[in-house]
Amino acid sequence: MTWLTVALVLVVAAAGLLRWRRPAWYWLAFGATLAALRVLVRYPSVMDACGLTVPPSRWRLALARATDWPVPGPRAPRILRLRPTRTGLVLRLKLRPGQDAFDVAASCDRLRHSFAMYGVTSRELRSGVVEVRMTGYDVLKRVQMPAKTDTRPMRVPVALREDGAVHYRDYRAVPHGLTLGATESGKSVYQRNLVAALAPQHVALVGIDCKQGVELFSMARRFSALADNPDNAAELLDALVAHMGDVYQLIRAEQRITADVPDAEIAANIWDLPEDLRPVPIVVLVDEVAELALFTNKEEERRRDRIITALVRLAQLGRAAGIYLEICGQRFGSELGKGITMLRAQLTGRTAHRVNDETSANMAFGDIAPDAVLAAIQIPAEMRGIAIAADSTGGWHRIRAPHTSLRQAVNTCNRHADLTPDLPALAPFRPALGGPKSVPGPAVESAPAAA
Ligand SMILES: Nc1ncnc2c1ncn2[C@@H]1O[C@H](COP(=O)(O)OP(=O)(O)O)[C@@H](O)[C@H]1O
Ligand SMILES: [Mg+2]
Repeated sequence: MTWLTVALVLVVAAAGLLRWRRPAWYWLAFGATLAALRVLVRYPSVMDACGLTVPPSRWRLALARATDWPVPGPRAPRILRLRPTRTGLVLRLKLRPGQDAFDVAASCDRLRHSFAMYGVTSRELRSGVVEVRMTGYDVLKRVQMPAKTDTRPMRVPVALREDGAVHYRDYRAVPHGLTLGATESGKSVYQRNLVAALAPQHVALVGIDCKQGVELFSMARRFSALADNPDNAAELLDALVAHMGDVYQLIRAEQRITADVPDAEIAANIWDLPEDLRPVPIVVLVDEVAELALFTNKEEERRRDRIITALVRLAQLGRAAGIYLEICGQRFGSELGKGITMLRAQLTGRTAHRVNDETSANMAFGDIAPDAVLAAIQIPAEMRGIAIAADSTGGWHRIRAPHTSLRQAVNTCNRHADLTPDLPALAPFRPALGGPKSVPGPAVESAPAAA
């Protein structure tokens, strides 16, 4: 008997410790079972209390009266499936006549409290069937990506969503992306995750990092071209535009349309070309984009116009040539001059980290998902890396990328350095590798160490 008590106390203590220090392990070991039981036991009363039941149908009442059975009570949506996941529970419900998916969506917060879950969201799967996703703990507090993800060519996992699902960056569905956020909000970490996720794929990476290259140059072995100042960036972008022209020439040469070519074999973008001819897709990463758009004299203004024009052309025409833009900055509005709003309109995938004011959030979502604006300015300052991701369908999610250190990202890039394609058009911008470059001594003095 005493042994049993001791064992029980140990298990409870272990569960408490896990729940505090490792909520993900706690969930897998105990939480999922307890939560599933709780949901099943409380289900009828909670649904009733949340107003998600319908009165019994007439024929049931008539039947009860005719046979002298007890009067049937109100009926909740039928549970089609209850599935525990790595981070929570997924409940699939069949609605009763007269209910709609909006009723469930409007009750999510009440369900969250009643079932003692951390978060509840719902979406309609097909007419009459609603999926309620619940999370058992704060999955964004310490992001752990699942070991198995649905990675495909040009579709990479970059972050975790609030509901425990994986957030993918899918270049073929959403070719160009814009990432905004105040300084120290997690933009560079997000971009670093993207680089690390793309590194094992057959893709050329091109980087423009006007912060003297501190973010991207250490991953140079996986980059086909890099620029660390606006002058180089202007030339690099011109070279990319020229490369895009070559790719279109290639696609045209391959089309050779005659009356007997079947529809499916006509190539209009690089993915329709046979694999041995297909040019390698290119992802262009730009960090701190405002540096490219600022100028102080006439000559710099000309350079700025050249850069923005090239970016606009890549954004407008790049998709079919397999050139994808990924732009990061603190603000990206019309105050950066002409051409910026036109460029922004082409950047479909929007991500906003913490921003300081509503106008910055509006630059990201004002034109596509107005309610995401509010969510973006509510991101707390101490939760760095939390972001709102939206696309032009109007849907949005809270996401957070795993905290990948520069060292981890550099290791991944070095491991896949042999995959770096050599693009002749971009050869002059290929980062010099080999031993450390002789960088002239820094012009800033280091502070003397405190004695
Ligand atoms: N996803 C994240 N999870 C945890 N910490 C993060 C995350 N993203 C950023 N941070 C923290 O915030 C700091 C600033 O991030 P960084 O990406 O350099 O900001 P930005 O480029 O927006 O100025 C990082 O050094 C890191 O400590
Ligand atoms: Mg940064």
